[in-house]
Amino acid sequence: MKHANHTPTRWTRADALKVNENDPTTTQPLVSPDFPVMSDTVFIWDTMPLRELDGTVVSVDGWSVIFTLTADRRPHDPQFINADGRYDIKRDWEDRHGHARICYWYSRTGKDWIFGGRVMAEGVSPTTREWAGTPILLNNNGDIDLYYTCVTPGATIAKVRGQVVTSDTGVELQGFTQVKSLFDADGTYYQTEAQNATWNFRDPSPFIDPVDGKLYMVFEGNVAGERGTHEVGPNEIGLVPPGHEDVGGARYQVGCIGIAVAKDLNGDEWEILPPLVTAVGVNDQTERPHYVFQDNKYYLFTISHKFTYADGVTGPDGVYGFVSDHLFGPYTLMNASGLVLGNPPSQPFQTYSHCVMPNGLVTSFIDSVPTTGDDYRIGGTEAPTVRIVLKGARSFVQEAYDYGYIPAMRDVVLSQ
Ligand code: FRU
Repeated sequence: MKHANHTPTRWTRADALKVNENDPTTTQPLVSPDFPVMSDTVFIWDTMPLRELDGTVVSVDGWSVIFTLTADRRPHDPQFINADGRYDIKRDWEDRHGHARICYWYSRTGKDWIFGGRVMAEGVSPTTREWAGTPILLNNNGDIDLYYTCVTPGATIAKVRGQVVTSDTGVELQGFTQVKSLFDADGTYYQTEAQNATWNFRDPSPFIDPVDGKLYMVFEGNVAGERGTHEVGPNEIGLVPPGHEDVGGARYQVGCIGIAVAKDLNGDEWEILPPLVTAVGVNDQTERPHYVFQDNKYYLFTISHKFTYADGVTGPDGVYGFVSDHLFGPYTLMNASGLVLGNPPSQPFQTYSHCVMPNGLVTSFIDSVPTTGDDYRIGGTEAPTVRIVLKGARSFVQEAYDYGYIPAMRDVVLSQ
């Protein structure tokens, strides 16, 4: 296989200095602390709508289906009972990543989600954590490839195949018994665990390039190299004003958006390619990257955190974006800074893990919302959906909808 010999687009420190947390056109509306929760028994966070390889969010026989990272709420586990005998939901929530499981939900309305249970039975997935990815409806037989990340030990991009079956009363997932490992970080383009014990390598999002028709995936990575050896030079710093030359410990932040190409449309064999976007000296995490194709442009979105920014630069938790006329770039930062939809400064952790769908709707989960004094309420449930409008290299927040509103863009009638 021979592929584009591209140069990654750099998200520079100068770009990041343009982030404006107070721009209302890139700020998510306030989430009220009296939000409803989808379930009293489980927390959910990263949400993965069922889609096709061109990105279309689909329903099957009139049922919308979403996959979520999920963890039991453990109000009776002594580990999470404080000295006063009360359930410490905050500690339970913070602990969720270590026992994440992928579950699914279905709905007739694109909201009011009904819990369907786990996608893979216990013991099917080879590692302790089932982390984020993308479920793809392959055909009208109901075949689904779930791309996801097998984490701890290691971090492996994997997929598992199963089938969706519908009835008048609900949706069942069947199969999902054979996990196929696709690849790990290579150490040449993407940092490995041996190079950095806190490396990031996960969150596959496969897609068919509307121009060349081939199957690719984007994923979260870090730029290869031993931790602490990356250079934050003029190219990474960009055109900064006086007083911004000192980068402190920014060499430790080396996020990137990776890309791989499949040998064929089956997606069983992949070749890792150099990153599309690097954030060396800017940010350590460019999570859950995904595309929207619109107006013959490639809109590449990724989520990131305030706490993963490097010394001397900052921005809100939220979704950031890059746009190009070509898959392999060069990319232009959305809104000059990259910021597309961030949390408001008064509620910096209200939502996270935004997924921008091709209809402009953005879904995310509620993390925590301030209540009284210093207190806050844990979410672990779907946030209100927001619509954004993409106009060239700019975006505008337009409207807020109901909690967890993820309507299908197309219904697929299954042939079984
Ligand atoms: C984003 C994320 C993903 C990861 C998962 C782990 O919220 O950090 O990158 O797959 O959550 O829980």
